[in-house]
Amino acid sequence: MPIPETLTTASHGDLDLRLAHGAWPADLAGDVLFSAPMISGGSPSAIFDLGCIIRLSLSAGTHGAAPDRFAWRTRAIESPSKRIHDRAPDAFVATTVGHRSSFGPLNAANTAPLPWGDRLFVTWDAGRPVELHPGTLDFVAEVGSIDSWGPSMMGDTVLPTILTSAHPVTDRARGGMWTTKLDPVLEPTFAMAPSVVFWRPDRTDVSVWPIEGIAFNGSTHTVSHTRDWVILCDSGNFRADLGEMMGGERTVTVDDDAPVWLLRKDQVLSTPPGTPVRPVCLRVAPPNGHFYARYDDADGISMVWEGMDLLDLGLAHRADDVDLLGRPMPPTAIGLYNMAMARSTLNEIVIDPNRGVVADQVRHSDDWTFNLQLSAMDWSPAGQAAPTAHHVTYQGCRPGNVSERAAQLYRGRIERSQLTEETPASLATFRRGGLEVISRWEYGDVGDLPTSPTFVPRSGSAAGGDPGGHDGYVVQPVFNDGGFRVELFDAARVGAGPIATLRAAANECVPLMLHSAWMPTTTELVDAPRLSFADDVTDARLAGLDRPERRVVASVAEELG
Ligand SMILES: [Fe+2]
Repeated sequence: MPIPETLTTASHGDLDLRLAHGAWPADLAGDVLFSAPMISGGSPSAIFDLGCIIRLSLSAGTHGAAPDRFAWRTRAIESPSKRIHDRAPDAFVATTVGHRSSFGPLNAANTAPLPWGDRLFVTWDAGRPVELHPGTLDFVAEVGSIDSWGPSMMGDTVLPTILTSAHPVTDRARGGMWTTKLDPVLEPTFAMAPSVVFWRPDRTDVSVWPIEGIAFNGSTHTVSHTRDWVILCDSGNFRADLGEMMGGERTVTVDDDAPVWLLRKDQVLSTPPGTPVRPVCLRVAPPNGHFYARYDDADGISMVWEGMDLLDLGLAHRADDVDLLGRPMPPTAIGLYNMAMARSTLNEIVIDPNRGVVADQVRHSDDWTFNLQLSAMDWSPAGQAAPTAHHVTYQGCRPGNVSERAAQLYRGRIERSQLTEETPASLATFRRGGLEVISRWEYGDVGDLPTSPTFVPRSGSAAGGDPGGHDGYVVQPVFNDGGFRVELFDAARVGAGPIATLRAAANECVPLMLHSAWMPTTTELVDAPRLSFADDVTDARLAGLDRPERRVVASVAEELG
């Protein structure tokens, strides 16, 4: 059975979920937020569609739900991009890597929710972070003026081309958010030059420092940090293929390892913005999607490094593809990415930043570790300082979602004998500090496709229980063509199975979602200086627009004013 068809055929909307199994704990509070592309059908690659935010309330009877129902509420991100697109949809041309128009590209803001204290942001790799009202989920502002981010890759347009990170990291000690910016360079060949970016939440501009001597051909999907270091790397599993963008066959493949760049925070912040900063460089295998450093770096930089072995996110299914078993690719899978062609490796790495080397690396893989999807951890300061447990969702082996075209492109690097049957998904808990499997739940039905898990600390105490990731709950949404459900696990015993399950009242389905995050229930928008859309609308940026297009911009600026 291939992955659920409803990943691309269902629609996002509001649901009132009912408790279908188990007992809902009393010490569970707050909201779980999910980012997702709207799956409008208007983009050849589902992951480039304009985003929405979804909020699951962990307390029954809130946000208009009946006393025994849990509110699942969906809001489109009403950003300037979305508002301009709504007014002038024909101006936008969908491409294999997003949209282009005379206004500029769309900031899809569809990848990850980022709570920061009582403020809420959503992120994307190819656009500025976007702030939302934590109560109403309305659009509030984009982060940092276009001028402060610096030159826009495709010209100075009202909607800028800003390649950044979908996972900025917030830094309590330094009072800001670390992220990245990528700028194209043409010498000696076309490549991306990364900068490190810092944003203080009381400012409407960002500070940008080029990273000295680095040019590469990938993306910086994740940013992580310790007390003293910011950690960046080439995510390695998304490669834009210029030949494919020009209409040719895809020939670019992902690498077997990735460069890592370490930047000392004090060095960056004491350097005038715009002045290059020198990184510590090393390489780590395999390429990853996500990595998470322990904040305490007294014994080196300890990171969970979530390998995405032979998973190529830039390789999307086409209508003329067949799967590894020779069957036509289902129409509902067109535009989704080609799934993993090897077992995923979870790694725990210790880097010695002074020597710039990997001092220790523990690897875990097994026959059930295909398609490492996403993970859950305790994001509290104490949990980041001394993590105890890391919860990882694996989607299982899915040869029905690997194309023969991909297998040919990766000929010699894959073992087809490992890719012959669908295997079930798992939720596994690993011990931080060795990666032993503490507990694992295996799904009984290959039609189940779990997506982003979220750790929720126990409520009822200021510290949220015992920090680290083992004391609390894991919220695990599960796609299935028979109906969407949300499972709740005891974080100390995921192998015992869900302790409670929520389902939609009429077994409705929910389409593709990406990252999730937990946030205490917050209803008020804090006062802070914020960028307005009109601030970014300069004469130079209007110069490339015709009169009706300028009216569109003026109308959006007035609406957001
Ligand atoms: Fe991500």
